Amino acid sequence: MTQSKVLSGIEEYIKKTPISLEFSKTSRNIMPGGVTANIKFFEPYPVIMKKGAGAYLTDVDGNEYIDYLLSYGALMTGHGHPKVMEGIQRQLTEEGTLLFGTPHNLEVKMGQKIQELYPSMERVRYTNSGTEATLLSIRMAYAYTEKYKIAKFEGHYHGGYDQVLLSVNPPLDEAGPANNPNAIIESKGVDPYHLEHTIVLPFNDLEATTEILTRHKEEIAAVILEPIQGGFIPAEKSFMEGLRKVTEKLGILLIFDEVKTGFRLGLGGAQEVYGIKPDLTALGKVVGGGFPVGIIGGKKEIMDISAPTAASDVFDNSQSKGSGAKDVLFHSGTYNGHPTILAAGLATIEVLEKEIEQVFNATEQLKSGICDLFAAKGINAQTIGMGSIFNIVITEKDHVRSYRDLQESNFGLRKEIDYHLLSQGIYTKPLNRFSLSTVHGEKEVERTLEAFRHTLNILF
Ligand SMILES: Cc1ncc(COP(=O)(O)O)c(C=O)c1O
Repeated sequence: MTQSKVLSGIEEYIKKTPISLEFSKTSRNIMPGGVTANIKFFEPYPVIMKKGAGAYLTDVDGNEYIDYLLSYGALMTGHGHPKVMEGIQRQLTEEGTLLFGTPHNLEVKMGQKIQELYPSMERVRYTNSGTEATLLSIRMAYAYTEKYKIAKFEGHYHGGYDQVLLSVNPPLDEAGPANNPNAIIESKGVDPYHLEHTIVLPFNDLEATTEILTRHKEEIAAVILEPIQGGFIPAEKSFMEGLRKVTEKLGILLIFDEVKTGFRLGLGGAQEVYGIKPDLTALGKVVGGGFPVGIIGGKKEIMDISAPTAASDVFDNSQSKGSGAKDVLFHSGTYNGHPTILAAGLATIEVLEKEIEQVFNATEQLKSGICDLFAAKGINAQTIGMGSIFNIVITEKDHVRSYRDLQESNFGLRKEIDYHLLSQGIYTKPLNRFSLSTVHGEKEVERTLEAFRHTLNILF
């Protein structure tokens, strides 16, 4: 009797995606690693998509997937939502251009909406990415405090530039003590200068954080954090409240990087959920409706340092205000406040204002269904997260509170499960978090749970 061999997750994946494989061979001759953002790569080659519709993606081999990556959370109304497409079309037709190169109506309209939903953002500036928004927030903090170091938490990501590309995913044998982490550079080409100018803090450890901040209070301009680490490990309420108090006391600004959590945790982001007012906030992803975007905002006395009405900036050749560029914080960008992007973002917010609860309900349903399936197999797994994002952590630990805790989880099993899920039409990049959208309904949740059930039956 012949027994059919059970394929591993990767073997299944390779079997289902031969055209993706061929495509990847070509793309590796064009882009380093075949990708134009390192995060888009996974072994042995990433799946190549060719069409999106609602909650679904179709790859070049014709496989259909329920999309839980949703472009790393950016698409909260799914692919090609009619209201978002309509908003884009309306802007193009009514305004007749993609770009004014001058101030325009939608900048104000979006700004008013942001002020309404995020009262801490008394003034805003637009950027072209979340990266640029956090970058500008750090410059704002330096300018306001006239201090030139930044503090960030271990395991938190704020974009790919030198000041913050430290200790995002550091090897534990180099990372130092949990309550006083070493700064570890996370890329070739980052100037070691930043090892001395970026201070790394332990998340959810208020005592140690307070001690480090107090030690460096004369040098640190701001603490930047993801209120929900990686989009799924929440700051404890007492930690968040303590952090707000201690930063205020020490004259250090508090920057909320809400690029992931903005709109996804609630319309008003983590700051609404926690009831905490940061000094500065960076938004991105969802607020662009699928287009590249970032928004930075905060207290007007900080933000107004960038106002070219008070002092001459670098492009004012006449220096007509009797001042030089050093008297104003420089912020510019050809595409900042792009009208089509803001139209897509405003249409997205309009949909979310009506349907966000639905997304939360579907997320809760999926989270508890997955937990039940793991429990039925006797596997200790948790679905960790708030709002519309969660991650599956397979661990013996009762409470995952930090990067260090996460390192104790079973990444190997999680990865194996993710590759099997891919072969069954559930898409997220292996090991990534899950994000839902307004078009992830009961049917999608049921289908996803069925795929989990099948996968766990294969493996156990
Ligand atoms: C918390 C956080 N900050 C900043 C960024 C950078 O945003 P972008 O990729 O739009 O530059 C990201 C992107 O994933 C993020 O998750």
